[in-house]
Amino acid sequence: MNKKRLTTLVVSCIAALGLQAENVNISTKTTSLVVDATKGNDLKFMYYGAKLSDKDIVTHCETGGWKGQWNYYSTYPAYGVNCDQEYALSVVHANGDMALELRLEEVEKQGDVTIFKMKDKVQPFYVNVCYRTRPESEVIETWTEIFHQEKKPVRLTRFYSGSLPIRRGDVWVSHLYGSWANEGQLCEEPLNAGMIVIENKDGVRNSHTSHGEVMISLDGKARENSGDVIGAAICYTGNYKLSINTHDDEYHQLFAGINEEASEYYLAKGEVFKTPVLALTFSREGLSGASRNFHKWGRKYMLAHGDKVRDILLNSWEGVYFDINEQGMDQMMSDIASMGGELFVMDDGWFGDKYPRKTDNSSLGDWVVDRKKLPNGVPGLVKAATKHGIKFGIWIEPEMTNSVSELYEQHPDWVVKTPGRDLEMGRGGTQLVLDLSNPKVQDFAFSIVDNLMKENPDLYYIKWDANMNIRNHGSQYLSMDRQSHLLIDYHKGFIKLCERIRAKYPDLIIQDCASGGGRANWGYMPYFDEFWVSDNTDALQRVYMQWGTSYFFPAITMASHISAAPNHQTFRTIPLKYRIDVAMSGRLGMEIQPKNMTDEEKTLCRKAIADYKTIRPIVQLGNIYRLQSPYDKKGVASLMYVDDTKDKAAFYWWKTETFVNQHLPRVKMAGLDASKYYRIHEFNRIDNNPLAFEGKTFSGEYLMANGLDIPYTHDVDYNKKNAWSSRVLYLEAVK
Ligand code: GLA
Repeated sequence: MNKKRLTTLVVSCIAALGLQAENVNISTKTTSLVVDATKGNDLKFMYYGAKLSDKDIVTHCETGGWKGQWNYYSTYPAYGVNCDQEYALSVVHANGDMALELRLEEVEKQGDVTIFKMKDKVQPFYVNVCYRTRPESEVIETWTEIFHQEKKPVRLTRFYSGSLPIRRGDVWVSHLYGSWANEGQLCEEPLNAGMIVIENKDGVRNSHTSHGEVMISLDGKARENSGDVIGAAICYTGNYKLSINTHDDEYHQLFAGINEEASEYYLAKGEVFKTPVLALTFSREGLSGASRNFHKWGRKYMLAHGDKVRDILLNSWEGVYFDINEQGMDQMMSDIASMGGELFVMDDGWFGDKYPRKTDNSSLGDWVVDRKKLPNGVPGLVKAATKHGIKFGIWIEPEMTNSVSELYEQHPDWVVKTPGRDLEMGRGGTQLVLDLSNPKVQDFAFSIVDNLMKENPDLYYIKWDANMNIRNHGSQYLSMDRQSHLLIDYHKGFIKLCERIRAKYPDLIIQDCASGGGRANWGYMPYFDEFWVSDNTDALQRVYMQWGTSYFFPAITMASHISAAPNHQTFRTIPLKYRIDVAMSGRLGMEIQPKNMTDEEKTLCRKAIADYKTIRPIVQLGNIYRLQSPYDKKGVASLMYVDDTKDKAAFYWWKTETFVNQHLPRVKMAGLDASKYYRIHEFNRIDNNPLAFEGKTFSGEYLMANGLDIPYTHDVDYNKKNAWSSRVLYLEAVK
């Protein structure tokens, strides 16, 4: 047996052996990713999937590894030779040469990062292919660092973060699509010949129309709690592209990274172009298993304050829209405090001096309080919140201005616009995007947060909005020969800004909102605590949107609010009980005018908030098991969260349609300890009588094999009957 191969098993062993080894195993607790790292060769994929033993790695690689019909798969295929193959990187060298032949020079281990240092065979052009594992995570992160020593800038024409071959078979992909007010819709399709491209071109936000994440089921149409699934998430704040190519070989090939369209990048000598992280995970426990991997990794290593439960808040938007005034804010604060809430957030409409913000057509950029509406300013409101025993938060939209604003009057050169061309306006017919590639604009945006915080050290929460895309490509800051840098440099500027804010205000809670769910991507989450899932608060549509979003994001990130009926987006009237039961499956909040609620409704909310506090750690920090998909159209949707000890769980069941004599499936639970006994308690009960299983105990085994028979309707007085039905059950293990 080849001695070299025997010495190539784990990264630690490689370090000990002076890195002469060929195969490098980058492993997590349950998965292995193996590459052939022979010096002087391209870096090749040998394996990614369930954990391999050392012995199996040797045999697997000796017997061919992941060789397709024609070739091994490069971990970072570059354009230039084998030009008929799909590629991750393409460049035009300083002298016009368009080829790349990357060869491994050395392997370096820096903490938990393994760096494969590659150099072009001919040009002084370098790529570091990086993989990172984290101690308590089943996610492997990969990215590249691209640099050169050529005489003049090198033009990067494609620069994905990474690629992955996936063995053909009955392979399916699940991804999210949608639009404003309909985000996170699930699409599942088999991988057939050709290419699937999922991309974003908004420029500012990146998750309305598509999501930068996919689940790939390796053994047939994906199931929730069984089957092999690979998950991939491109962690980026700007335009991305994710493609899966199925050509004439044995493997599909996944690519993901920054969308290169309209973004040719001139890389200067010595400058390092770092591609965003592509996060990969593998699970043998179906889609929910892959979701749990993303959720755990995300909470621990990506999300701001991922280990702290979130406050229950009231946001003013749907309650009063732009009609902000001191008395109204005080009343809302008093109401949310009386229902057990912990935080009040004043939304849009509080600012503007020369141009007071009355509607959406002016004032963005003029972040001074409108004294007519709020004579005591923001400090007055923070004080009032303290008086009510709650915290205070505020809405801002730092990346934007309106043509009707003092800011625009002073700095017309700060907006995104092609030099020499007319303005393209957005929301309200006047909205404009500020050019964050310009350091002065970054400073200005920083000062918005900084000034608010200096004036109000107790300001607890910021809702950071972004309600426009890049419509007219162009920067008045970048030189004409670097206009193609705008889409990338905007986000470099954005990240710099976020890093600055986080460095100075590490404890601030910040929601990322972008016309609803336009910024649900892990690229944002190191700087933000949560995102607004959608401007659509209709509970039924939320069941679908939150289901899809939960594929990649944990409940702690998903702001989910109880709103009014009829709903302001769909005009559907859904009873409060159902609205509560849906909102309680995410990060619970309210988006309503409490003044218009009856005492009975307030009591129901008060109880729900108290009960949510009991299950909040399970929902926000626990493990998701999706049970019955609304997309299966079985008339019901159901999921549950189980805590790490498997002692406590929260079970949700929502009827999604109603017919007489319909037959709904009995939903089997998952994730419990088969040998433990759980007592069942219903939250938010509106029925006249308790459920048959109220207070009863069942073994985890029984609940996972059989589930519980949930009544299709509520046992309420005749005049209270309606088409809606939902349940939230709390399960607690009995000793
Ligand atoms: C966006 C947000 C809303 C609200 C409004 C305010 O649409 O998604 O939640 O904050 O802006 O103008």
